[in-house]
Amino acid sequence: MTRAISLHQVSKSYARGVRVVERLSLDIRPGEFLVLLGPSGCGKSTVLRMIAGLEDPSEGQVRLDGEFANDLPPAERDMAMVFQNFALYPSMTGRDNIGFPLRIEAPGEDPRPRVDATARMLGIEDLLDRFPNQLSGGERQRVAMGRAIARHPSAFLMDEPLSNLDAKLRNHLRAEIAGLTRKLGVTTVYVTHDQAEALSLGDRVAVLRGGVLQQLGTPRTVYALPANVFVAAFIGTPRINLLRGLVRAPLDGAMTISLGRQYLRLPEPLCLDHQLLRVQQGREVIVGLRSEGVRIARPSEARPGEVPISGLVEHVEFQGHEVLVHFNTGSRPAYVPELEAPRPVRQVRRRRRAGTVLGRLRERAAGLRTGPVAVMDHPEGTEPVRADDVPPEGRQPGDLVVRTTPDFELRHGLQVPLLVDLAHLFVFDQHGERICPAPARLPDLDE
Ligand SMILES: Nc1ncnc2c1ncn2[C@@H]1O[C@H](COP(=O)(O)OP(=O)(O)O)[C@@H](O)[C@H]1O
Ligand SMILES: [Mg+2]
Repeated sequence: MTRAISLHQVSKSYARGVRVVERLSLDIRPGEFLVLLGPSGCGKSTVLRMIAGLEDPSEGQVRLDGEFANDLPPAERDMAMVFQNFALYPSMTGRDNIGFPLRIEAPGEDPRPRVDATARMLGIEDLLDRFPNQLSGGERQRVAMGRAIARHPSAFLMDEPLSNLDAKLRNHLRAEIAGLTRKLGVTTVYVTHDQAEALSLGDRVAVLRGGVLQQLGTPRTVYALPANVFVAAFIGTPRINLLRGLVRAPLDGAMTISLGRQYLRLPEPLCLDHQLLRVQQGREVIVGLRSEGVRIARPSEARPGEVPISGLVEHVEFQGHEVLVHFNTGSRPAYVPELEAPRPVRQVRRRRRAGTVLGRLRERAAGLRTGPVAVMDHPEGTEPVRADDVPPEGRQPGDLVVRTTPDFELRHGLQVPLLVDLAHLFVFDQHGERICPAPARLPDLDE
């Protein structure tokens, strides 16, 4: 039977006390497809290995169908793992590779019927008599998948199973995995660092950063309502535009968020989300705008909720069905250091204790996600990206990327009117926590 998998306040430290997973709680429902998403080194495989029983939690509980399972040996957990490097036995045919675990589990039984049924399901009947070195990467991965499926496990644990494959095959197998696990209705925990894969596969996505859960939600939620600037920046391509802004809320005038040379004027009467921004008066914030939240149009064409700015075309990225236009709007980009660096460096920073009760609660809430995302300034010792520098991966010159149709004739150096749709405006505070749209649920401060 497919099963519920729960982690309760699970932490993991290896030797020398470095915590790689920190008080992780997750309730995975029977039959659910849950994706663990995060940059390399954030602890995804460690979590999966703790679920599999290959690694002991240092603290906390793993529960299977509500039963305490920390001490349960891997073989008794009835889970099948699929890894990135397919690990087939080179001296066995596809058939024997798939049948091998069955022979171990039920020595008296003939594994053939199950192997054949599995091969039919995966469309690999004609691969069964070949050896791994006679199979392509995709075929090997299918056989590995077959080996996991044939056992009829109660859960699949998949650790970046598609990372070694080329893009086309990856997309193809991705669709196959989604179809298959849904058909089988088996609880699946799927690890990936690829946000597109996570969004397309998961019933829910758990975003990890430095071993700490940042957000758990449906793909739609983590995209549309990211809990903090890390989630916002990690999910979605092109990367969300993050600009440094300043909230101005004069008593006698319109409320604005200034972005360097320009500003967003918040329409009156202020909606609730914008009213809540008032407390940020005079403070620096991070403005997040997805590339589809801004369009090229004159101020006179503004629909309700759209406000004008303008941008200088820096770079036009033609993509066929759409065009990504990189504008310079004269604002300063904010950075998410962990996502700029090729390998994330976990920052263990002591934060000064705020004096007020509210401050301490706030600090504690932010602390639950291992401290501030620290995005206001570029990481120390490195210069901000300039137009003539080689940009880090995923980032091009220009502070604002706008997605548009190929109809516009745009060229470098053109000044273009833009409309920002405030329904798509995100504002994050200095710690990187989302303040607009207002957090739907307050963080649980009792933890
Ligand atoms: N056996 C181990 N001993 C010490 N450190 C480890 C061990 N396994 C993993 N780590 C460290 O734990 C962190 C998380 O690793 P891992 O779970 O493999 O991350 P991910 O799968 O997200 O890339 C990394 O910093 C890694 O170096
Ligand atoms: Mg890993």
